[in-house]
Amino acid sequence: MTTTTTTTAVGQPLDRVDGRAKVTGSARYSAEIPIPGMAYACLVGSRVASGHVTGIDTSAARAEEGVLAVLTHQNLPRIAEQPSLIPSLDGTAAPGQSFFPLQDDVIHYAGQPVAIVVADTWERARHAASVLRVSYAETPSVTTLEQGRIQTYVPDRIFGGLMPGRIRRGNVEAGLARADVRVEAAFTYAANHHNPLEAASTTAVWDGGELVLYDSTQGVNATQITVARLLGLPLSKVRVISHYVGGSFGCKAMVHAHVTLAAMAAREVGRPVRLMLSREQMFTSVGHREEQEQSVALGAARDGRLTAIRHHKLSPTSFFDDWAEPSVSASSDFYACPDFEGVHRVFRANTMTPTFMRAPGEASGMLALECAMDELAQELGLDPIELRLRNHAEVSPASGLPWSSSGFRECCRRGAERFGWADRDPRPGLRREGNWLIGTGMASACYPVVAPGSPQRARARLYADGTAVVQAATPDFGTGVATVMAQVAADALGIPVDRCRFENGDTDLPSIATAAGSAGAGMISAAVHSAATALRNQLVLHAVMDAGSPLHGVDPGGVVVRNGVLTAGSASDTYTDLLHRTSQPDAEASGTWSPPRGDGEFAMMTFGAQFAEVAVDPELGLVRVRRMTGAFAPGRVLNPRTARSQLMGGMLWGLGQALLEADHMHPRTGRWASTSLGEYLVAVNADAPDVDVELVEVEDDVVNPLGVKGVGEIGQVGAGAAIANAVHHATGRRVRKIPITIEDLL
Ligand code: MOS
Repeated sequence: MTTTTTTTAVGQPLDRVDGRAKVTGSARYSAEIPIPGMAYACLVGSRVASGHVTGIDTSAARAEEGVLAVLTHQNLPRIAEQPSLIPSLDGTAAPGQSFFPLQDDVIHYAGQPVAIVVADTWERARHAASVLRVSYAETPSVTTLEQGRIQTYVPDRIFGGLMPGRIRRGNVEAGLARADVRVEAAFTYAANHHNPLEAASTTAVWDGGELVLYDSTQGVNATQITVARLLGLPLSKVRVISHYVGGSFGCKAMVHAHVTLAAMAAREVGRPVRLMLSREQMFTSVGHREEQEQSVALGAARDGRLTAIRHHKLSPTSFFDDWAEPSVSASSDFYACPDFEGVHRVFRANTMTPTFMRAPGEASGMLALECAMDELAQELGLDPIELRLRNHAEVSPASGLPWSSSGFRECCRRGAERFGWADRDPRPGLRREGNWLIGTGMASACYPVVAPGSPQRARARLYADGTAVVQAATPDFGTGVATVMAQVAADALGIPVDRCRFENGDTDLPSIATAAGSAGAGMISAAVHSAATALRNQLVLHAVMDAGSPLHGVDPGGVVVRNGVLTAGSASDTYTDLLHRTSQPDAEASGTWSPPRGDGEFAMMTFGAQFAEVAVDPELGLVRVRRMTGAFAPGRVLNPRTARSQLMGGMLWGLGQALLEADHMHPRTGRWASTSLGEYLVAVNADAPDVDVELVEVEDDVVNPLGVKGVGEIGQVGAGAAIANAVHHATGRRVRKIPITIEDLL
């Protein structure tokens, strides 16, 4: 039986429910929860990148006022289980790397925790940490591409086992040989760090054998499972709460060691313990996007149709995991191209295991591919958009399956229109305004629609006063999910959205997988929709079976619910009358969404197109991005305000990728050169151009019940390439070093 409701809240640009609390400072983040008797933990990281700890003199630190414990590999208890890198992000532990610190004296990377100092105030903990004397036997480290390229290998699986190391289709050599035109381009990329405003933090509280963690995370269930496994606790004894999270960009998707270390420290000192990473420690404790080089070879026929794509990548991974972001996966599954070869080559280095970061793989891979496509368009004398359209794949090139929906052509058309592409003179270096050379560029964007591997759950409760609470465990790490899910639930229940509240961020609520891979809105809305629909159907059934209802005996399938009013023909009842009449304070239902298992009918991808205009001062090497337009087809848009804001943020990260964000390992010390926001540059308001986001709605009834394809990451994909291509158009120079900085343009 299905009853009916109407959509009124979904699609509205509602303000964020948490906006006021966040901007007025009343929102309490994980490191701001007041707990009586709290102690503070300060991590101490290794000064060397390779070797071992020969001694730790803790006497001076322990003698400092207020110090409760100095924990090292000599006195910290062993973990219950050796972590292993995730096969997925739901239902399994997600420790970020398969090495856990403070278990022995071996040093694998600079910044690796070698001690935890716990004191009664944060200042005392930090001071005592500064007087701790750790001595090392240092051995030569390998951290840079130049040091590592002599001994490389191609892993079977990369990216936590989620992707193959090597992808082949057809015969790439033959495809390149029969091409009329070939383009080859090699790119180097600096390493990137996530740098959310809120550093990672955990507050751990033990009550007898039960642990409560206030954690800054993308998924409370992953934290619960990981910490329970590492400490050997039953899941029912670990509760994780995460009400406000100040951004993440992927660094809070995995449960890095500091989370479990906070719990261990709290157990050791017998008090609640708060552990907040310093900004500097954020560069060495939560993963990063690895330094890399990529080379792309394209072969095409005279008409522009691709005959072959070869895409190779080289990057450092840790000594314990085969990690590489899957930079060739987008080029393997975007353009129609018979012959493809993609290889992720890695070498062992003194680094922590890199991790997910802002469109991991797609952002860096599409930058290389789309700059090469721009060059190919130039070689062929074809408009860059026309070249993309001629190569648009009508079915997935990787699987041969039809897309569940596309919208790519429409994104190109509407993006070009809004941007004013039609008047463009393709010849580079011609437009000048005073000292500035002006150029425009475009690139394709794509991001896969990722489905979680486990069922997603939510619960809905309607009170007799007509208000509702809908619950699911998921945190809102800045995406607006708490706002949007109230919209989804209100429509499914058939009540006004201001009567519906979404409660989230707690493992005591129905479980939801870690929101990663841009899958959050799709999977959470599916669970919420399911729970709220189940509750609506249950209440309609109550009404038609209630002898006191005007709807008694009508066909429940014919009942429409709107504004809390149940109507069938001329008869009507209301939720509140029904509950009062039957003496029920509330009614409740749960809902589960079981994601479709890849049963091989459709391929799922989100499409978009990016445009940028830059001004380059060739004497000063300055690049200013003057405007950006992105057109995206993310399926159903639940809230255009929060969706636009995520896409705009993604596009600005693309600007950062192209022009600003860079970190390098010092080849001798094996330490990051930049460990602060003063040295590691991210785009700020002064860098931000006019950003125009166009939402191209496509219907998709395959991906999930509401047809949501996600906006979390695609905004970044292609944005950097559009800027790099615009720099070429302005100057006639192809810069292959990312980010493109002043010295590259002098
Ligand atoms: Mo996101 S970078 O997939 O956590």
